[in-house]
Amino acid sequence: MKIITSIKDQTDYCNSLRKKGESISLIPTMGNLHKGHESLLFDPSYIKNKKIVSLFVNPLQFNNSDDYKNYPKSIDADIEILEKNKVDCLFMPSEDEILGDISESESFDLPEHMNILCGKYRDGHFLGVFKIIKQLFKIVRPTAAYFGKKDYQQLIMINHIAKEYFKNEIKIVACDTIREDNGLAMSSRNNRMTKSQRNIASFVYKKLVVLREIIKTDKNYNFKELQKISIKELSIIGIKIEYLELLSSNNFSVIQKDDTDNLMLFVAFYISGVRLIDNIEV
Ligand code: PAJ
Repeated sequence: MKIITSIKDQTDYCNSLRKKGESISLIPTMGNLHKGHESLLFDPSYIKNKKIVSLFVNPLQFNNSDDYKNYPKSIDADIEILEKNKVDCLFMPSEDEILGDISESESFDLPEHMNILCGKYRDGHFLGVFKIIKQLFKIVRPTAAYFGKKDYQQLIMINHIAKEYFKNEIKIVACDTIREDNGLAMSSRNNRMTKSQRNIASFVYKKLVVLREIIKTDKNYNFKELQKISIKELSIIGIKIEYLELLSSNNFSVIQKDDTDNLMLFVAFYISGVRLIDNIEV
């Protein structure tokens, strides 16, 4: 696997691939790779594409400096995982170079609905993700780029970037959430919890599954009431819910009484100071 750290080398490498008629898949990450990241590497539709993984812990998207400082790093293990998965190139830009390359005069128009859910609680987060992804897309110019549905609001924003800034020339592939056996969505932040905390955190997913069942089967469900009870029950086992919402997965609008299509439950919560997110389709 080629490891590239400068923007010029990465641009040259991508240009040389294109000259040879190769197509490129890009998988952006912040490292500390787990099975959720690995699942983004297996798409059979673009099996022939050259696979480029980027690894950059992007300071622009952290609204909390401790969260940024404590973000887990495991570069040797990451390289091993990527080599095992036959990734062609790892792009690890330096902070100074990649952030210095983002021009102040560029436009970063966030789509609608970025001020709710995570956008409401993580000031500047989506703008930070927007800036780095637009930059990575410009450098790599991939045919396809892979993102997880776990970060659903992020995924919606990436679709917007591809449409508005890259004329839909980059195919955005949305990948299902990979979970631990107990249901907890895999996340690099899970490494900051003990086994028993991870087990407690899995009760949030279990609660989402129960809520989904009620919403699907009980025509008279009252979401406000379900929300209140769930938050209370989870607080008893040490989980602090930041938000728990039932929204349309198309446009994040609030669900009306008779809506049954494209419903999604979204949650963000804290356990022992670690912030996690999850969602499920209803
Ligand atoms: P990171 O958290 O490292 O995630 C990289 C990609 O892996 C994202 O598309 C994320 O949605 C996906 N992913 C994470 N956990 C997953 C899981 N359990 N199942 C499936 N996919 C999962 O998301 C980011 O980095 C950053 O915001 C980034 C897009 C790289 C921009 O800095």
